[in-house]
Amino acid sequence: MPRIPEETIQQVLAATDIVDLVGRYVKLRRMGSLFKGLCPFHTERTPSFTVSQSRGTYHCFGCGAGGSAIRFVMEHDGMSFVEAVKRLGDAAGIRIEEEVWDANAEAAAKTRALLLRVHQDIASWYHALLMKHRMADEARQYLKSRGMTAEVAKSWKLGYAPPSGEMLREWAAGKGYAEGVLIDAGILGAGDPDSGRPGTYPRFRHRLMFPIRNDQGEVIAFTARILRADQHPAKYVNSPETMLFTKSKVLFGFDRSKRAIAKAGQAVIVEGQIDMMTVFDSGIENVVASQGTAFTEFHARMLKRHADEVVLCFDADNAGINAAGKAFHTLAPTGLIVKCVALPKGDDPDSLIRTQGPGAFAEIIKSAREFIDFQVEHAATRRNLNEMRERVRFADEMAASIRLLDSPVARETAIQRVAVRLGLPEETYRRQVLRDFNPQAQKASATTTPTMKTSDGRQLLVSQDKTALLLCRLAFSNAEVLHWLRQTRREDILDDLPGASMLALLWRSQCDPADPTSTSVFLASLEPAEESAFAGLLAQPAPPGGIEEAGHALDALETARLHALIQRAQTQLKQPGLTPEEDASLHQRIIAWRKEYLDRRKRDPDTR
Ligand code: GTP
Ligand code: MN
Repeated sequence: MPRIPEETIQQVLAATDIVDLVGRYVKLRRMGSLFKGLCPFHTERTPSFTVSQSRGTYHCFGCGAGGSAIRFVMEHDGMSFVEAVKRLGDAAGIRIEEEVWDANAEAAAKTRALLLRVHQDIASWYHALLMKHRMADEARQYLKSRGMTAEVAKSWKLGYAPPSGEMLREWAAGKGYAEGVLIDAGILGAGDPDSGRPGTYPRFRHRLMFPIRNDQGEVIAFTARILRADQHPAKYVNSPETMLFTKSKVLFGFDRSKRAIAKAGQAVIVEGQIDMMTVFDSGIENVVASQGTAFTEFHARMLKRHADEVVLCFDADNAGINAAGKAFHTLAPTGLIVKCVALPKGDDPDSLIRTQGPGAFAEIIKSAREFIDFQVEHAATRRNLNEMRERVRFADEMAASIRLLDSPVARETAIQRVAVRLGLPEETYRRQVLRDFNPQAQKASATTTPTMKTSDGRQLLVSQDKTALLLCRLAFSNAEVLHWLRQTRREDILDDLPGASMLALLWRSQCDPADPTSTSVFLASLEPAEESAFAGLLAQPAPPGGIEEAGHALDALETARLHALIQRAQTQLKQPGLTPEEDASLHQRIIAWRKEYLDRRKRDPDTR
């Protein structure tokens, strides 16, 4: 695909004076290190639109619009990215060689196509083995024991991965697939896990294979279940992240259910892929599985594009409520109405439908209640609301949730309900909720200008972990901090921690805040919502502190991550059907994490 080379974009941004550019449309006045004026993207009387000359960015505190000079031209003149770059290039006397053929992009596209073919082929092979081969007797037996017919296996193209690597190698040789391709596809792993010897090993052995598909229904990965409880510690093994597969961007079954989701305007969210299949096959087709991973903003946006409402199915215990709370935290800021149902103790959607029928499950879904109401109920029964300390906590907890709600109507309704619970005048509680709430955000989402994107950016910002945001700000104000972060090799924190996506973007970027145009180049490489969220962050005053403060913040994130891991494991522990080994292994992990968690808190009592 022809595209504009990265260096050209850098040149164009370096050659563009954003104050000059914006100044042609907006009367700007210097105020300290920034320029201020009336926002061209919404109507206002007092200036809340700011431009940073040194960083080459703009941000409006009123409506949330913001980004690089390229974004300004795109939004102001309704141009595409390429058109905007060309326009700025013309003005700066830089020739845009759009027609340059990008060898890297072409090579990447080829590899992608090859990996897709491998996945399709191997899914067919696994499937054929499951349907016919003697070796798969046990797998077929297992399917049967779970009430899954050959029809189901066909419809979802379930498969069987043989116990040894020999057949796989033979198959690959016959197909002409080199070992390297299977490694890139995640089918082969490096190093033998049993003997520890170098070489490669098949990741999936003697397991039931579930193809994971992208939006277009192409197989991009697998999740694989053990057949007998006593074989292995991990019940499920997933493909690693590959060129095709990013765990945080996929919801299992979405390719098949997105139409039903759009039609119903509602997505039922279950945890397991077997749950998804059973629910879907029972006729409730607006369902997806989160596969036990935390929700990301990407998932949230994906769902919001098709639905207004999600129904979370979770266990009726504290861990279940906590998991739902995490999901609410990510989903609510997009404007999705988050409802939930608590399943009877010991049941998941699959077991419930099998024992009580689809009608019973449909009834449960119908009885879903808004998460906030659920939380009110739950907290009110768990806490003694006659006690002052408990009342204050409850009020705080609920206020934090209510602030996440995107719709003013939803917020007001929730305020009323909590006030009633507390026996307080609504106005008193409303003041508390609004105390830490930016009413401008409300205004931005209530008006239609300038685009959906800016309010998406606001919501993204709201959904982020506060400490992670502080780290971003430290990194922008002090290049040393970002260099230091990148060499800590602690970036795995980012993947397990909810609300760290912006920090992850910055951390993993090439952005060098010491280089004047680097920030706007970074911004120009982002999705619109991310770009405006970062522009909003940059417009905040630089926080005091350097590497030392960043170190504290990172420690706090690590502690928060441990907390998240423990909670997740505790949720898993509550799942029915754990083998004693799984149970023991989870307990061990929890003990180890908890010890680390407590050690950390002892060392640094300020962290969470
Ligand atoms: P079944 O026991 O086969 O019915 O699966 P389940 O979906 O009921 O499993 P469970 O409720 O224990 O877990 C929910 C989801 O979390 C699963 O569908 C998986 O996607 C994921 N999960 C569970 N155990 C593991 C594991 O050991 N490793 C990984 N990577 N994921 C797991
Ligand atoms: Mn299950």
